Amino acid sequence: MAPHHLITSHRVATPDDASERTFSITNTLKLDAKAELDALERGLLAPAASIAPKFFYDALGSTLYNAIVLTPEYYPTRTEAAIFEKFRNEIASVIGTGKQFIDLGSGDSVKAEKWFASLKPSRYVAVDISESAAREALARLAGNVDAPELAGLITDFSSVLDVTPVAQPAATLFFYPGSSIGNFMPDEALWFLKQIRAHCTLPGSGLLIGIDAKKDSARLDAAYDDALGVTSAFNLNTLMNVNRLLGTNFDVRNWQHRGFYNAAMGRIEMHLEAHSAVQVKVRGAVRAFAPGERIHTENSYKYAPEQFRALLVEAGFTEPKLWQDEGKDFNVFYAGISSVG
Ligand code: AVJ
Repeated sequence: MAPHHLITSHRVATPDDASERTFSITNTLKLDAKAELDALERGLLAPAASIAPKFFYDALGSTLYNAIVLTPEYYPTRTEAAIFEKFRNEIASVIGTGKQFIDLGSGDSVKAEKWFASLKPSRYVAVDISESAAREALARLAGNVDAPELAGLITDFSSVLDVTPVAQPAATLFFYPGSSIGNFMPDEALWFLKQIRAHCTLPGSGLLIGIDAKKDSARLDAAYDDALGVTSAFNLNTLMNVNRLLGTNFDVRNWQHRGFYNAAMGRIEMHLEAHSAVQVKVRGAVRAFAPGERIHTENSYKYAPEQFRALLVEAGFTEPKLWQDEGKDFNVFYAGISSVG
């Protein structure tokens, strides 16, 4: 165990019989976030300015994301949920019961919990960048007498995925829903899948993953630029988060949300566009933005089913199985590993 790992133990008294469920959370985030803030500064000062999407998710940003998924235009979350509901038993019978369930980007753990009855996992590991989110989710699950053994891992897997501090040597189901893999560039997505595959050492291991499909650009444009302006608020809020983290003086009123499908790249792009000339203090420097200049805040890649299947196979998974909604708007894949090696 590396010395910078912080492990905290939690006891939760279950309401019905006063027995105690315990879980521990291992935090492998670096104790000083200096490198992260330096990267944020570099992104702002670069000729083509950018802010990484992880900076959307402060408390207000997470709440705004939960509102995005309720807008009529943003179809991915409810479409994935409908696929899971419709095919839950079929998917569960392909996966099999009794596996260690590792939830990548677990958040409130609500999506994962819905699988407990059919998959009967031996163990549940919540992996998230937010310790408070994971702690609250695990405390809630600890009150559910049907929940399996619980553990938490706090880490930023957007750089490297390492679940070895908490994973046990067992057949493991990795769960990566929500089209989150779309935030990676395709070559990074392949590398991420290879890292998951490298953790699938025992027979019966595999990956259950949701990824948004390519479609008509008008629908994609609307999903990332909704009429109520929730996605706009979500995008602009990252400037307030950056002000808090880096001491910059962005004024949200100087900036405009842009969210659109770039069909040639097969991705949604989100940007913040300066209405007029803007000067922003970035630590010791001043970053001057020209009228119309943009800060790139997110890519969200969309995959045709055959394209994503090929990526899974290239990463070393075998026989990916696909489930879709009737409109083929969203892809859910389960991919296992060959039992011979
Ligand atoms: C959380 C990355 C899946 O790409 O659709 C939603 C984030 N950004 N609206 C997505 C997002 C704007 C979302 N993911």
